[in-house]
Amino acid sequence: MTVEARSVRRSGAQAVPGRANWWVTPVTYLIVLSLFVLYSLWSVVFASGGRHWLVGPYLSPFYSPLIPWTAWPLSSAILVAWIPLGFRASCYYYRKAYYRAFFFDPPACAIREVGHANRRYAGERRFPFILNNLHRLFLYLALVILVVLWIDAINAFRYTNGFYLGVGSMLMLANVVLLTGYTFSCHALRHFVGGSLDCFSCARMGQTRHRLWKWANIVNPYHGNFAWLSLFSVGIVDIYIRLVSAGAFGSCFHSHLGC
Ligand code: FES
Repeated sequence: MTVEARSVRRSGAQAVPGRANWWVTPVTYLIVLSLFVLYSLWSVVFASGGRHWLVGPYLSPFYSPLIPWTAWPLSSAILVAWIPLGFRASCYYYRKAYYRAFFFDPPACAIREVGHANRRYAGERRFPFILNNLHRLFLYLALVILVVLWIDAINAFRYTNGFYLGVGSMLMLANVVLLTGYTFSCHALRHFVGGSLDCFSCARMGQTRHRLWKWANIVNPYHGNFAWLSLFSVGIVDIYIRLVSAGAFGSCFHSHLGC
């Protein structure tokens, strides 16, 4: 008996033909999401001292926009991090991922739920999952943050009034491109621009909305890819900026090219 088959038998779930490896995806989700949550918690809450998230023209995306509120005794990132956190946590794609990984509810497509047989299904009508219905609100806030991150990325190519090109500048640019892909492929955005209409030609600004809706349709199928890639890029940029700040690559900002 294979390891997968033993795992299926132990869990009580039923495998269907071609689904013997059903557990690989939820386990991968579990590991990746747990690592990201732990790292971002450390960066946002516990590692704000020493300002290693800000060096030269680089600012960590966890800390952007930088809110200079001196009366606030905790990490300034806490003041903004709830927006991207709420946006990702209420994202339709991530909901699928963490419902499978953390709640086994269901663990995978065509795999029976385990241990929920007598439970009354409440969907997303009870706390805390009812908060997922705020996704569109988080989308509006995330769009504002995205504009700020673009400004940060452009500023990463300027230092002491001149042009600067560093690895960090490129990483910040790649990160904001991926975040743009993630935000603009959002299902709620697609619905916002065109999903509620029966007739584009009858609606106000119908042509513009139709064009936006068509663009949203192009990127929307890649939402899952953007979700993972942008998750990695946010973490990588934060780690990289902390390494630069700690002097891991020497002094970076003496010429127009650097780390
Ligand atoms: Fe994923 Fe909106 S559905 S960000």
